[in-house]
Amino acid sequence: MRYSAYCFVLALHLPLLVHCTPTVIPRSTLPPTQVRANAINISTHSWEIGTLAEALTEYEWPTLGVFACGSIPPPGKLREGQAADVLSIAEKVVAEKTAGSLPLINGDGAVGDPASIGVSVLLRNWTLRNHEDTSFADAASQQLDYLLHVAPRAPNGAISHRESQVQLWADFISMGPPFIAYYGALEGGTDGDALLQVAYDQVRLYRDVLFDSSVGLWRHIDLGEGTDPTHWGTGNAWAAAGALRVLATIQSSSAAESMESQQDNLEQWVQQTLDGVWRFQQPNGGLLNYLDQPDSFLDTSSTALLAASTFRFASITGNDTHIPAATLALQLIRNSIDDQGWLQHTVDPLTFSKTSKPGKYSPEGQSFVLLLEAAVSAWQA
Ligand SMILES: *[C@@H]1O[C@H](CO)[C@@H](O)[C@H](O)[C@H]1NC(C)=O
Ligand SMILES: *[C@@H]1O[C@H](CO)[C@@H](O)[C@H](O)[C@H]1NC(C)=O
Ligand SMILES: *[C@@H]1O[C@H](CO)[C@@H](O)[C@H](O)[C@H]1NC(C)=O
Repeated sequence: MRYSAYCFVLALHLPLLVHCTPTVIPRSTLPPTQVRANAINISTHSWEIGTLAEALTEYEWPTLGVFACGSIPPPGKLREGQAADVLSIAEKVVAEKTAGSLPLINGDGAVGDPASIGVSVLLRNWTLRNHEDTSFADAASQQLDYLLHVAPRAPNGAISHRESQVQLWADFISMGPPFIAYYGALEGGTDGDALLQVAYDQVRLYRDVLFDSSVGLWRHIDLGEGTDPTHWGTGNAWAAAGALRVLATIQSSSAAESMESQQDNLEQWVQQTLDGVWRFQQPNGGLLNYLDQPDSFLDTSSTALLAASTFRFASITGNDTHIPAATLALQLIRNSIDDQGWLQHTVDPLTFSKTSKPGKYSPEGQSFVLLLEAAVSAWQA
């Protein structure tokens, strides 16, 4: 059974490493509390809030995140204060939700982004003391309904990332499928398993359109007007990170046994992405904003999330091929955080093409640092 094999690999991970050249990971000297406070302070857009909730979960409450063995379902009751910051994000979003709206929050025209908050809403629902309160379950199911039955679709069945036209963005992989998968894993049974299959299929259908096998990298945006055919670093990071969350969710679900080939494919797709990405690593450990364009600039945001994904991938598969690359990247990220807890040298996530202006920082980049530290800790444990 795949599920126990996964936990087995985790348990045996350290002994397996002994005959490899050990990668020495230095202790972190960064002030994570300030990185975290800054992430909370500047995350305002739907995808930033969803990414923040995920980062807080993985960094502070790892047993509730999908990468931990036995994390699904979460406990019905949490300890006093446990995951309070994550749950308060869900509470605020649901309290402020526009009546009659299916998406959880205004997504600035994006279909996928509001769904990223859905994982924390599902956790809030699951751990409520008062089971008569259906507000969180209703909000999550309306968000799911919007993705599955209202949002436009590409000819191949991929859910559009945009509302006003059919368009696929690599970003979607971290926004929609992890929520659909978590919903299915909690629901269980035939309907739940079907949702896990939908989450997998969406990764597959997006990959069919966006993955550029000639270089082993994802294009950023395709279909419709205003495409971006570049191999954007953050797009590749969203794709790898989202596919890994879907993989881990399937592994911890009741569909783990019946969805073996899907897990193999997800593993292979992430591996191909990591193979592609690290081929373009710079001597300082970083990745460029446009990965394969030598005149592009260093982007610490995508470097952080791709390094995080590499540590997660190694924890899940036991394949450490890219750990040296990720460790070099980790050192660069730790050295790129200033004494106020801000990650320097990020792409401006709203333009995709320019660096953040002086004195401005990347909300998602702040969260990616927490995801990276969480992934490193899990890999070392
Ligand atoms: C959040 O930012 C504001 C300034 O924009 C600052 O006054 C406040 O102290 C910050 N809060 C935290 C927790 O860092
Ligand atoms: C909400 O939580 C309840 C209680 O744990 C559970 O039975 C129900 O399936 C959950 N709803 C969703 C949409 O996950
Ligand atoms: C580990 O991954 C690399 C590519 O990232 C691949 O070439 C190698 O065959 C993999 N090793 C195993 C044991 O699967």
